Order: sequence, then C-alpha cells, then structure tokens
Amino acid sequence: MAIDDQYQIHLQKLTNKEQPVTETIYALGNGHMGVRASNPLQGNSDHYEGNPGLFVNGFYDLSPITYGERYFGYPRNNQTIAQLPDPRFLILEIDGVRSDQTPFRVETIDKNLDMETGLLVETFRITTPKQKMLTLTLQSFMSQSDYHLYVVRYEIRALNFSGKVTLLKQHNYVNQSIPNSNEDVRRAQRHNPLGQVYMPADSPTMLIETQKSQLGILMMFHYLGSDPRMKMVSRNNIPCYEVQLDLTPGKLEQFAFGYSLGNIHALMTVEMGPDFYIKKTLERFHEQNFAKLFEASANHMRHFWQDSDIVIDGDPTLQRGIRFNLFHLYQAAGRDSVTDVPAKGVTGPGYEGHYFWDTEMYMLPFFIYTQPEIAKALLTYRFSILDEARQHAREMGIENGVLYPWRTINGEEASAYYPAGTAQVHINADIAYATDLYIQVTQDMDFLENYGFEMIVSTARFWLAFGNYGEQGKQKNKFVINAVTGPDEYTALVDNNYYTNRMAQNNLFIAVKYAKQLQKENPTKLADLGVNEEEIVAFQTAANKMYLPYDDDLQIKMQDDSSPNRPVFDIANEPRENFPLLLHYHPLVLYRYRVNKQADTLMSDFLFPFDQDEPQLQRDYDYYEKITTHDSSLSRAIFSVLANRIHNPEKAYNYFMDTALMDLTDLQGNSADGIHAANMGGTWLSLIYGFAGMHAGINGLTFDPQFPSEWLFLSFKVKYHKRQIKVAIQRQEVTFTLLVGKPINIFYREQEVELVNSTPVIIHLTGLQV
Ligand code: BGC
Repeated sequence: MAIDDQYQIHLQKLTNKEQPVTETIYALGNGHMGVRASNPLQGNSDHYEGNPGLFVNGFYDLSPITYGERYFGYPRNNQTIAQLPDPRFLILEIDGVRSDQTPFRVETIDKNLDMETGLLVETFRITTPKQKMLTLTLQSFMSQSDYHLYVVRYEIRALNFSGKVTLLKQHNYVNQSIPNSNEDVRRAQRHNPLGQVYMPADSPTMLIETQKSQLGILMMFHYLGSDPRMKMVSRNNIPCYEVQLDLTPGKLEQFAFGYSLGNIHALMTVEMGPDFYIKKTLERFHEQNFAKLFEASANHMRHFWQDSDIVIDGDPTLQRGIRFNLFHLYQAAGRDSVTDVPAKGVTGPGYEGHYFWDTEMYMLPFFIYTQPEIAKALLTYRFSILDEARQHAREMGIENGVLYPWRTINGEEASAYYPAGTAQVHINADIAYATDLYIQVTQDMDFLENYGFEMIVSTARFWLAFGNYGEQGKQKNKFVINAVTGPDEYTALVDNNYYTNRMAQNNLFIAVKYAKQLQKENPTKLADLGVNEEEIVAFQTAANKMYLPYDDDLQIKMQDDSSPNRPVFDIANEPRENFPLLLHYHPLVLYRYRVNKQADTLMSDFLFPFDQDEPQLQRDYDYYEKITTHDSSLSRAIFSVLANRIHNPEKAYNYFMDTALMDLTDLQGNSADGIHAANMGGTWLSLIYGFAGMHAGINGLTFDPQFPSEWLFLSFKVKYHKRQIKVAIQRQEVTFTLLVGKPINIFYREQEVELVNSTPVIIHLTGLQV
C-alpha cells in the first residue's frame, strides 16, 4: 500500500527535536497503557534527559498529602500514576562492556510514526567506547486489538566491525525519578517506588503492586516465535533473555518481543491465576509473529480512521497536525468503563495521570460524534465513581447529591490546592452537560435510564443544596452560587461565576427534562432515585431564578460579582518570559487582578450559542480576549470557535493553527511532560463546531460553515441519531451524504436538507468568506 505522507510524523518535520519532547510526540498508547519513545539503551545516561517509562491508565499509587496546615475535609492522599519500567529497554554487551553500565553513544538517526497503522519506526546509531558502530532499528506498536499487548522488534546491524555481540532483554528495574525542579504544578510532583520482582523460571516477569493502592500489575515479555538461540538466563539474579550474535557488516539480526500486562488482582479472582496467565501468554507468544499481531492492530486503527478522520486539502502540515491530535486522542482514552482520559493521555507523568473536566468539555464531543462506544465507556467511568462523589459532597457539607472531584483517578478528590481544585464545582455541571450531549446525539435511552439520569439528578441535587436564594442588587429572590472557582484559574473563590451559574442552570434544566420524560416512560426509575414532583419543581424554580451576572455599563456578561472591582493586569507590557504567569506570581497576586488564564465566561457563550446575539458575543469576545493570557492550553480552541461565530476569519484561523499544532511545535513549552489532550479535543471542536459550524440544536443537526481562504476542502463524518453522515465543505458548496441509517433531515443554516439515501446532496453556498 502506498504510504500516505499526511499520516506520517517524521522527525525532520518537528520543530523541537529534544529527547524529552520527542519521547512524548512518539509515545504509543491504546487507552489502557502507553509507552514513551525513549532511547532504548538510555545510553548517554549522564546526559540523558529523557523520562522513559510505561504508564497504565488508572494504575496509581497513594501517598499521604503533607500539609503545613491541614483543615477539615482536605483530601488525604495523593494519587500518582505509576511510572513503570520501560519495555523498550535493551542491553548490548560488546567487548565485555554492557551498555547499561558504561554508556554507549546513541544518536537518533530517524524516527517516523505512521498514524494510519500505528507503527513507529526508529533508527539509532550506536558507538561503543571502543568505537564499534552499529545501527539499531526499532519497530513498535501498541496493540489496538489486544489492550494488554505492546510489541517491539529490534534490528541490529554492525557498521564497522565483525565480532560477537550479546543482546540482553530484561526488565529495566530502575526507579525513574520524576524531576520537579521548579514550582510547576503541571508536572508530576513525586515518584513512587515500585513493588517486587516475581520470577517464574521461564520468563522475565515482574509483579508490581503500588504501595497503598489495591492494584497490582503483572508485566511480562517474551520473544515472539521460537529461535533456538534465544536463552533464558539469570544475570545478577535478574532473569532475562540472552542471544549471542556473530555480526559482520551488512548482516541483519532481528528479534521481536511481545510485552504483556495483566491485572494481578483480576487474575487472582478469575480461575486463571498468575502462573496460568503467564503460561498461556508464553504459548501465545510462541505461536505469534510480529506481522500477524501488527496486522490485527493496524486493521483496528484503519477502522478508527474510517469513522474519525478529518481531511483538509490545502495545507499538508495542518492535515498532519490534525491527524496527530486525533491519533493521540484515541490513544489516550480509557475504553474499559473504569478509566477516563488523563490530562496527558498515557504519554507522561504530567498532572499525575489525573482526570479533569478536560474529558467532558473538550474531548467527549469528538468521541460522542465519531466513536460513541468510547464516549459511553468514559461516562460509565463517571457513573462508577458516584459513591465517592457522594461522599465528597458530604465532606463539603452538602447533604444531598454528589460533588465530583476536580482531579482524580480513583474517584476521590486529589487536589491539595482547593482554590484551583475542589472549588471548581462546575465539574458537576460539566459531567451533566456531557451526559446530556451523549444522550441527545446517540439516543442511547438505555444509558439514560441505567446511568445518565442518576448522574444528572445527583449533580442537580448538589446545586439546590450548595446555592441559595438571595438578593442581587435590585434583583430579588435570585438563585446564587457563592465561593466557587470558574474555569479561569487566575481568578478564585468568587461569588456567582457566570460559567458556573449558567452550567448549573443547564444541569437543573436537563434534570427536569429527563425527569419529565421518564415520568412517562419509566416512572419506577424516578421512584428508585426518590425523585418526586416537589423536587422537579425545585429544580425548575432554581434554574428559572438562576442569577447570571451582567455588567450594564460595559454591556458584557460579567465573569463574577467581583470582577468589575479588580484592576486590569497589564498583559501587553509583561515581559514574554513571565508567561505562563503561574510560574512567576503567587496565586494571590493574580487573584487580585482582572487577568484570565483561559476562556471562562466565553466558555458559556461557546456552549450556549443561542444565549446571545452576535453583537453581544462580539462585546464579550473583545472584552475577554484583552484580559486572557491563554496560559492554559484549553483556551485557544474556544477563542477560535467564537471568532468564527463573530465572523472574524483571521482570528479563527490563527487561534486554530495554534491548537492544531500545539504539541508538534511544543507551543506551551511543556510537551515533554505529555501531550495536551484537552487541546487535542479542542482541535476537533474548532473544526467541527467552528469552521463547519455544527450544532445539535432542538431542530436537529445544523451546519453553518465558515470556510477559511487558506483551505480548499474540509471533510469529516459524524454519527448522529443512529446515522452516519459525511460532510464535505468547499468554498462554493457543501455536500452531505448519508452513509448509514434511515433518512433524516438536517439543516444548512435555516434550510432543511433531506438525506434520503446515500446519494450526496449538494448545497451551493452563499455568503461564505472566500
Ligand atoms: C487548566 C485546567 C485543566 C488542567 C488540566 C489547567 O492548566 O487551567 O482547566 O483542567 O490544566 O488540563
């Protein structure tokens, strides 16, 4: 098959080729686990700045949070994703010198990731202390068809010598330290000691139980196929595979290893215990070869692209950048209903592997519209932590409903800094919003009845108890929500954050909507959850009376009650090196000023397009753009979508390009810690909600494209109401094709478009920017 260049991420194309950054860019994952693209010999260890390792989504350790002053209800434990031994690790022994003991020089010659299939190919040139040179090529992929499998093939060739080389493959049983030399809260804050090595006679196997968590992982690898030269030996009491090679220049030796992971506690509870699991895996590996395993995984990848690809004609770099983001989103998302999407995917230790609102507000739309099964699994994870969320609400003095943790893995709050953590109670409404979107788009009524309704009602109950009726200036009897932090983390603990109030209002409205629907369709569900008429009225009343702050003089939506009284921070005259501000100012300094880290009130304008007309949006946009630093990677995508809505194609395009190429260009300067998964979801939002102007309104699916002059063609597919629709936009026309499902009517602006069968329907456009 011809290689499509726009599915390739070639090293030469990267702007920042530093090892820690490329380790992230080329990290491979499958939602369950991820491997950073380390230097496999970690050869220049004195200078090695990389941060190699394997991350298993949801596999974390607990350690007590040490507070100088500890108050009631503060979270007790850190939850830190475990950084496990690097499965790419390999030892070469030449002239009696081992590459893990005496660093060999390792130069990266080439790297290429084929996103279409998920195959990573890397070539290194290795020079021993005695100046013997070899090339080492790694071909690796993370299996998309078997979530417990990672496969790597090593190819070795001598360049300037003939002689003996020993290859040793063992677990890299080294604790990776997670550097946190500065005060950057975005990085992992600690590293965790790993557990014990478990050694059955015939395979290098490692059992890792994290310190206090109940979780254990059994890691093992085995040579794929059978090669009589491959021996199991024990070196320094560490079991490993060893093969003695006689290399001559030009002669190629190849070995492939399968790397398998099982959950030790799951293995103990099912009939097959760890020994049985190891035996079965070994047998399987004997029968396998690289090509077969790769084909199964690559097919899976191709299916992903069939549904989720976005094609842009006119800018190959951008096309690649978009695919890169979609590829990583897919690699990042847990698919097992017990894990979510860590903010850095499974590509690094940043943010300690925690799940945030990032999933619901930035990434879920992509999954809902293109991979609804994954969206469902992610929301089911949120359902699975309802008990912890209930407990958390009690700790906050709220007797009814749940409060989701701001950041977590196991469902408990893990944020030690509550002003930018627990106080972001909007997470409740974010989860409810995403649940509603999922149900609206997929019409998955089973999910509504078995999971979604309980989440929506439980979060709605929280608002009734957390907010109160009060007077707001001349407005009497308004529902107000005090002492919260909105999305903008440069403003904390305020009263009536617009975004929070608007989202809480929506949460209450949708609780009423579904309660009324289920009253007719499944009244027992209401009874089971104790929802009665009185409560439905209380939800409705609070929503109707929700206070939404507005500045009458400036005619803008006010971020919160206190914002007009704070001086404006002089962003324009702040030296460039002082950004992000969070690394240069104490939080309290920032809180005193009007300065935003990211979209906040505008996030509400983005989510509720019918709340405001265009002049209002324009005023909000102009005002908030001036005070926003975009220090959070979650900001630009929203500004891009809204710029399209106010018909400012230049801004829409520029913000978009920053989101689309953020990690590939290391725009935020911290891609080394892992990808910016929310921003990657933001790329999809900017394209589909922004440039294609898609919206799932009450009428149905509507498109209002704003097509930038830089492009020739944009096309993508969405799943909606059990259909799949392909949308192709060009300057002069938009084409809709019903690919799957019964006839349906959609909208191009106000115009109804009937999609009856697979014949494309072409609409000639008017009024588009060209
Ligand atoms: C942002 C949050 C986000 C978190 C994780 C922070 O910098 O301000 O909105 O949830 O990063 O991505």
